[in-house]
Amino acid sequence: MSSNTTAGDISASGSTVLGAEHYSVELVDAVRAATKSAALAAGAWFGRGDKNAADEAAVAAMRAMLLPAPFAGFVVIGEGEKDEAPMLANGEELGSGRGPACDIAVDPLDGTRLVQEGLPGSVCVIALAPRGTLFDPRDVFYMDKLISSAPARGVLDLRATATENVLRLADALGKPVTEVTVAVLDKPRHAALVAELRAAGAQVVLAGEGDVSAAIIAATTGGDIDLAMGIGGTPEGVLTACAVRAVNGFMEGRLAPQTDDQLRMALAAGHDLDRVLTLDDLVASTTVLFASTRVQPN
Ligand code: FBP
Repeated sequence: MSSNTTAGDISASGSTVLGAEHYSVELVDAVRAATKSAALAAGAWFGRGDKNAADEAAVAAMRAMLLPAPFAGFVVIGEGEKDEAPMLANGEELGSGRGPACDIAVDPLDGTRLVQEGLPGSVCVIALAPRGTLFDPRDVFYMDKLISSAPARGVLDLRATATENVLRLADALGKPVTEVTVAVLDKPRHAALVAELRAAGAQVVLAGEGDVSAAIIAATTGGDIDLAMGIGGTPEGVLTACAVRAVNGFMEGRLAPQTDDQLRMALAAGHDLDRVLTLDDLVASTTVLFASTRVQPN
């Protein structure tokens, strides 16, 4: 971790860097600068009603900063497939070619609609891991996710009910379930989940978009959110796994196609949709670099 950042700490500039000790100062600086540059570019579109322009600006800024960076990067997780937004494409090679060979996961702008509407909560995110270690969720756009901090390891289970999981977490954290805070994306598909969590006694925090930021807080011991759960984007899931790895938290995921077409694509790509993906499955290395910068109005 870099000297001026700690797990879950967001500096005044709105940037977070995790796992900096694994990579050269030059590469860490380049990756951090790429998220800052993307956030600045997207910030120019804050509250201006055009999410595609915000996303395009973030993508262009991030790509420009990563092209000369001191590594041989290969984009495994690019953003944009599910809503055909502009993207740093899967398979794209980035970097000067000198330095470590890395898988790259990017979300140039997570929470495009938040920027469009002038709301807080969007972030520009990059993660790097050694080449061949990131899970490749090709052709599956959605993932069911369960994320919490270190005490949840060996305690929570995606196969258990939401009620069981919040009760187990309350026990592991040593507090009543009424003090367990769970972040869930505010989507119709989560109506039953939210009702169940509330009935179990947990406090539910709903956000319209952007499940990466909430997941990072959930993964960090002592944060305002104890658990993040529900179905969100798969690229965001792999990025989240990189941050969870860096802060030594807990995460499980399961691919969750949402339409018949998505189901057909996922099965054609050979995915096992019953498999619970552990942190090791999602990121098969502890040598992970994660950087994010919050988008603010310019
Ligand atoms: P984008 O800004 O990249 O579109 O993603 C926003 C987001 O809310 C993610 O944080 C989340 O994982 C995903 O979309 C959920 O997808 P959907 O809005 O289609 O349910």
